[in-house]
Amino acid sequence: MEYFTTTSNVSRRAADCLVVGIYDGAKLGVAAKQVDTASGGLLKRLAKSGDLSGELGKCRVLNGVEGVRATRVAVVGLGNADEFAVKQFRAALAGAISALSSAKCRQLLNALTLETVGDASIYYLARHTAQTVSESLYRFTEMKSGKKTPSMPLAKVGLVLANRSEAAKAKRGAEHGEAIAVGVALARDLGNQPANVCTPSYLARTAQKLARENKRLNTQVLNEAEMKRLGMHSLLSVTAGTLEPAKFIIMRYKGAGSAAPITFVGKGVTFDSGGISLKPGPGMDEMKFDMCGAASVIGTMATVAKLQLPVNLNVVVPAVENLPSGLATKPGDIVKSMSGQTIEILNTDAEGRLILCDALTYARRFKPDVVIDVATLTGACVVALGHHRTGVMSNNDDLAGELLAAGIAADDRGWQLPLADEYAEQLKSNFADFANVGGRGGGAITAGCFLGKFTDGLKWAHLDIAGTAWKSGNEKGATGRPVAMLAEFVLARSGALP
Ligand code: BES
Ligand code: MN
Ligand code: ZN
Repeated sequence: MEYFTTTSNVSRRAADCLVVGIYDGAKLGVAAKQVDTASGGLLKRLAKSGDLSGELGKCRVLNGVEGVRATRVAVVGLGNADEFAVKQFRAALAGAISALSSAKCRQLLNALTLETVGDASIYYLARHTAQTVSESLYRFTEMKSGKKTPSMPLAKVGLVLANRSEAAKAKRGAEHGEAIAVGVALARDLGNQPANVCTPSYLARTAQKLARENKRLNTQVLNEAEMKRLGMHSLLSVTAGTLEPAKFIIMRYKGAGSAAPITFVGKGVTFDSGGISLKPGPGMDEMKFDMCGAASVIGTMATVAKLQLPVNLNVVVPAVENLPSGLATKPGDIVKSMSGQTIEILNTDAEGRLILCDALTYARRFKPDVVIDVATLTGACVVALGHHRTGVMSNNDDLAGELLAAGIAADDRGWQLPLADEYAEQLKSNFADFANVGGRGGGAITAGCFLGKFTDGLKWAHLDIAGTAWKSGNEKGATGRPVAMLAEFVLARSGALP
């Protein structure tokens, strides 16, 4: 996609489509006023007669508006003017693109960038435009054999600016937004692939391919024998029941010399049947999404590498399939983790933490600046926070604060849960150092506490994305979250934000 900026009056720019907005109460946005004036009051008349709605995301496409050079004007509702912020900006633009989906637009002019959008700068408006455009056009059709309906053939997007002096920041925002969109799309693709395609080996090949395309990026993949030599018996206990080989993926991006790396660890369970503690049948297909943590950290790596950011970033992905069989791990089995601590596996469906604990132990060798793990870890997190906020847990409140702030700026929000000692007590075992489940109550937190036993002395945070990584129902599919939050976190740390 090509992005350009313009400061002309919006009625004078040629385009296949011009997007302008209208607030609740028939209040025209900045660009809508320009269109209204150029067209002799058309928008005001339509608003008065109830033909234009200020309802957020609701869009009416007008063709051949007199006095306006654009072929179409998409007038989209912006909701309440006092509440118009980044989230609403994205929803409005997505609404306009969706209303235009059957139109063959090649160029689109987004004039919503002229509005006051909370306290977002033009950099963020450009970035969110690029991300929203890309995410709205995204389709996962490669498994369909019939005729595939293509999305809009958009090639050029214009950002309307109030002032020439904003152009450089807008360009940078669009560039960053596009790079984030690449990461989001990769994460969605990996998540949406069925588990018979997206295996641990497939994740490893994807990581290796990224390294071939980027000089600063290096990927290393360990096999089961190598994991065994490292003492990763907790991880290996999860893969015991499947014929699909487990892979331990290590990606290193070097953009800042010898600085201590930011390290991301992503849960890569390519299918989670529960193992011997078998899950119920309905909805089990969605456990192909149980590698979305891995997908999000690989996706963020793709973003960082594309932008060649001046940071050091390491990504670690323990990738396994969790199936029952005659060789599978059984409830009550006890394993020794790479850290030396022993774990009583009371439930083989609490497998995410069993692979992450060895990956977190492995990550110590990087002497990391911070470690952040990302995992579709618990159904309990979905009960606690639903599908809107990612669960954020940390042994360091500054780090948690940084992630929460990144989530707000990126419109990919989290919510902090407490990692208090009382919860950790629920993991007591009569036979091993501790158990892998904490019983009823606070399941997202006891899972976090389990991981906390492997991060002593590290500055660490845990993101539970069980509720945010994918959607169910009609819109079933991976969301690409929390690539945007993680990318914002890295951008902020790399000093690349204007
Ligand atoms: N991958 C699941 C968590 C999950 C469940 C994510 C549903 C999204 C939707 C995880 O491996 C799991 O099975 N967790 C168990 C833990 C329990 C056995 C303590 C769960 O949440 O039920
Ligand atoms: Mn499970
Ligand atoms: Zn799982």
